[in-house]
Amino acid sequence: MKNITKICCIGAGYVGGPTMAVIANKCPHIQVTVVDLNEARIAAWNDVDTDNIPVYEPGLSEVVAEARGRNLFFSTAVDDAIAEADMIFISVNTPTKTYGAGKGMGADLKYIELCARQIARVSMTDKIIVEKSTLPVRTAEAVRDILHNTGKGVKFQVLSNPEFLAEGTAVADLFNPDRVLIGGDSTEEGQEAIQALVDIYNNWIPRERILTTNVWSSELSKLVANAFLAQRISSINSISELCEKTEADVNEVARAIGTDSRIGSKFLKASVGFGGSCFQKDILNLVYISRSFGLQEVADYWEQVIIMNDHQKKRFALNMIKSLYNTISGKKIAFLGWAFKKDTNDTRESAAIYVADELLNEQARIRVYDPKVNSDQIFGDLNYLQTRKPEENASNVKVFEDPYRACENAHAIAILTEWDEFKDYDWQRIYDSMLKPAKVFDGRNLLDADKLRKIGFKVQSIGTTS
Ligand code: NAI
Repeated sequence: MKNITKICCIGAGYVGGPTMAVIANKCPHIQVTVVDLNEARIAAWNDVDTDNIPVYEPGLSEVVAEARGRNLFFSTAVDDAIAEADMIFISVNTPTKTYGAGKGMGADLKYIELCARQIARVSMTDKIIVEKSTLPVRTAEAVRDILHNTGKGVKFQVLSNPEFLAEGTAVADLFNPDRVLIGGDSTEEGQEAIQALVDIYNNWIPRERILTTNVWSSELSKLVANAFLAQRISSINSISELCEKTEADVNEVARAIGTDSRIGSKFLKASVGFGGSCFQKDILNLVYISRSFGLQEVADYWEQVIIMNDHQKKRFALNMIKSLYNTISGKKIAFLGWAFKKDTNDTRESAAIYVADELLNEQARIRVYDPKVNSDQIFGDLNYLQTRKPEENASNVKVFEDPYRACENAHAIAILTEWDEFKDYDWQRIYDSMLKPAKVFDGRNLLDADKLRKIGFKVQSIGTTS
């Protein structure tokens, strides 16, 4: 297998952008070109001011600034980059299908297939294709089928290399991952391809943290990792509801069980529910695959993680309504946070969207402040649901650039994202500007409830009654 000197990555999104920036940063001897059909996105990656790149991640703009123009390039010339590359990462989106068989459950693989066909059409030299997107187990079979029938004598090896970065800590995760997973064929050529990718990661990641498996284990492991992570959140969230009935405190329960080394303390924080582009879609995909193999019990088991998460979001909204005397029509509710988690500008599947939707059904007036999400994104998210006309969303939701103004004259505040800055606000000033009784619904158990109560707020945190 020849030395890899040119990499192309198809898809300049939340995964393609950061992963390739870090490979370029750590491998100055490799030319990395990230391509996308979306011209605006590529233009933003090429913005002279790296603070304007389309993905917000702590530390990312510095990594991009260091490598961009040296060995990191962003381009819309997809064919050229494919033709030149020795190795091609496919990092396009794989959303849940919205039509046809598997609608609402299975992964929509049309973008993956388009990439495979484009690679097959353009390639004149042998290439290693790396599945970076999260894919249903056995997708590599379809990719291989398309590539192996070009009749041009070009040889392809297909590897699976799922990405485990978490948004909000993507750069740190990429610099220092728990593990890198590479799946490939057991044939000599397959093993050579695996070695070529191992050699790239080995520029900064110790060999023992680079795991190699067969392709199917690798594809499936990504779905399973996300299912296990989300399952922990739904597990602690289910207990949060029981805590609210029994005067147990979910934070104390989480600490008590998390100190058991078999359970571990991470991912045990109760909240308004998980969001993000991955957990829900990947579990639905797992459920769909299990059902398609006739594994009803397996499918039902994992589906419950989603059912619990939907319940938690809805429960949070209904609890607010109840506590605001069962009527929120015309009442102003300030949302602090819209992103699905802190330190990212990604709002896909954010709990805030669904809580807002529920409250808007009750004719609430919503005031939103998020440090990194702009109003176009917020209205886009609400309009996408098609629950009501865009004009209605426009008249009932207002987006602010100043959190204090968002909270002025509000009946209540809901904390939807755990941004650190919310903890340091002048809460006395906020209290003074609100209607009384001033209520705070802390969907992230972020704020110091005792401190707020001393000011005069009525506070409800998830999974506690005190
Ligand atoms: P994204 O939606 O941010 O980016 C995907 C990009 O691919 C878009 O900019 C789109 O224009 C581009 N694209 C689609 N088809 C194309 C084509 N034929 N040619 C060129 N460009 C094309 O998606 P994101 O979040 O980066 O996710 C990508 C994959 O990585 C998904 O499978 C996701 O499940 C997986 N993943 C995502 C993680 C995350 O934290 N966002 C973490 C780990 C995996």
